[in-house]
Amino acid sequence: MFVRVFHYIMKMAMYVIPWGMPKLIEGEDSILQLPEVIYKNGNRRVLVVADPFLTNNGYLQPLLDKMSELQLSYVIFSEVSPNPLDTEVENGVKMYIENNCDSLVAFGGGSPMDCAKAIGARVAKPKKSISQLQGLYRVLKKIPTLYAVPTTSGTGSETTVAAVITEASTHHKASINDNCLMPKYAVLDPKLTVSVPKRVTAITGLDALSHAVEAYTNHMYNTKLENDLAKKAVRLVYDYLYKAYEDGNNIDARSHMQKAAFYAGRAFTRGCVGNVHAIGHTLSGLYGMAHGEAMGILLPHVMRAYGEPVYKYLADLADVCNMCNGGTIKEKAEAFIVWIEELKEKMGVSVYPTCICESDIDQMVNWAFKEAVPLYPTPVVWKKEDYAKFIYSLMK
Ligand SMILES: [Fe+2]
Repeated sequence: MFVRVFHYIMKMAMYVIPWGMPKLIEGEDSILQLPEVIYKNGNRRVLVVADPFLTNNGYLQPLLDKMSELQLSYVIFSEVSPNPLDTEVENGVKMYIENNCDSLVAFGGGSPMDCAKAIGARVAKPKKSISQLQGLYRVLKKIPTLYAVPTTSGTGSETTVAAVITEASTHHKASINDNCLMPKYAVLDPKLTVSVPKRVTAITGLDALSHAVEAYTNHMYNTKLENDLAKKAVRLVYDYLYKAYEDGNNIDARSHMQKAAFYAGRAFTRGCVGNVHAIGHTLSGLYGMAHGEAMGILLPHVMRAYGEPVYKYLADLADVCNMCNGGTIKEKAEAFIVWIEELKEKMGVSVYPTCICESDIDQMVNWAFKEAVPLYPTPVVWKKEDYAKFIYSLMK
């Protein structure tokens, strides 16, 4: 009862929060337009927070060359691990201050984007540690202008207000959630995603799907916009994820998957994620499992565990994809879950996690519960014993 009252108050509060969206710069080679936008915005010294692989393999170079042409100075911070650590954020903040930077470009997947947002939050709030900023609305201050350049199609971090950071000393993974973290610009250049390996294409695509499905099934905070965006994202994943997986050079599929991730990201920015993410974060924090893999593994199990309260919503999503020719709500919901399972299987994503140690389950329950309750408006509110039962059910 307390939790649902909290959700209702949040729902009311959300009507007064300004929900923007980043300005989009999109299309093939649109990355080359970014330096001019930076210049026109009056920024001159940029901290580029980039994935280390992309930095070391020349993927940044066209952007850097164009920045130099316009006399924009930059420093590159690429000490970013797949699950960014608070210690890495601190090193990025140091580099930002030492070089007197005035803006941030995040280049890569969710990790550099979350790291750049957290650097921005720490620059805005120099006296607060990352752990003090984690939670809801603890920054409340303008961060340096952030330009996001996603090179994977999954996290949607280019349009979200969240930065997920892991505390190095405890492995606890948690989000900083604040509207000021939303990037001002997002560059959706499909050519930047063609080199993404098959496995990463699969799991990042499943991450985007989990955002759309969790936002849609949560339903409580959504307006028509979030519901429409979640549906569009699911349809795009249905039509294009496997095509992008099969042929990474398929620009059309890559471009549509970028849009899917963007729409899903905006949908969950207001609609929130749920227990797929709350439990998935514990798998990444404790065992280093890639975020998208955790999402892909957990999504069908969590939806099945919710049962009847989500049938209607999953049936809607099945209809959006024209999956069923008639049938009951329950049958359509089941068809939707089976589609996710079959898609996972075709892309070689595991059915169950094999890494869970029984001795960690109490910790997982506590972390997942703390993350999800009361914040996420999950379709079924789980008690700690429900989390434990669910996690034990994954140990096959
Ligand atoms: Fe996610």
